[in-house]
Amino acid sequence: MTDSGYFIAFEGGDGAGKSTQVRHLVAALEAAGREVVVTRQPGGTTLGSALRDLVLHGEAITPRAEALIFAADKAQHVQEVILPSLARGAVVVTDRYTDSSVAYQGAGRSLGAQEVADLQSWAVGGLTPHLTVLVDVDPSEGRRRRGGTHDRMESEADAFHTAVREHFLAMAHGAPERYLVVDGSARAEEIAAQVLQRLAQEGLL
Ligand code: TYD
Repeated sequence: MTDSGYFIAFEGGDGAGKSTQVRHLVAALEAAGREVVVTRQPGGTTLGSALRDLVLHGEAITPRAEALIFAADKAQHVQEVILPSLARGAVVVTDRYTDSSVAYQGAGRSLGAQEVADLQSWAVGGLTPHLTVLVDVDPSEGRRRRGGTHDRMESEADAFHTAVREHFLAMAHGAPERYLVVDGSARAEEIAAQVLQRLAQEGLL
């Protein structure tokens, strides 16, 4: 981990409202005069965008191939975007990171959380966020908010999304010093205030 920058990940199920929270946080950090680099996974690099199309909209991808594509996206992303940004002192805010793979591929696809966590850790060279905000939402509420269009992950059954949610919560409860869990069904402004309060405690704001 670099000394100068600060690395924040937002995680949660589909339709949890992460992207809205990322926007709120970026605005607050910029207002406080910080350089902010905002990014998302999969995607965020040229290779990542191609991998994103493949993995979310491609066909006949086996679970292990899926896990490797998500890992390749992150390997590129960390090297190309995240590490250089942290090295010059920026705050990096990412919409999803390694925990998504542990929850979706490890728990959702039943590949094994530890194996997927090891794969992800190797892909990102062990880079861990200072803080991960888990926006927790019931899968049925997430489905309702997403509306009609569904990618490969979103089309999965409720049981898949429930396994994903439970695994996110288990990771967060296992390391409270590195996580903030917020209730995704609360008002967006209320959630944003909780995130800022925690970052103030961490000394970032
Ligand atoms: P995206 O459109 O970015 O969804 P959201 O707005 O909910 O973040 O789609 C990303 C999808 O890919 C989402 O369903 C979660 C899934 N995913 C994984 O399965 N593994 C991963 O490592 C990552 C980063 C995402």
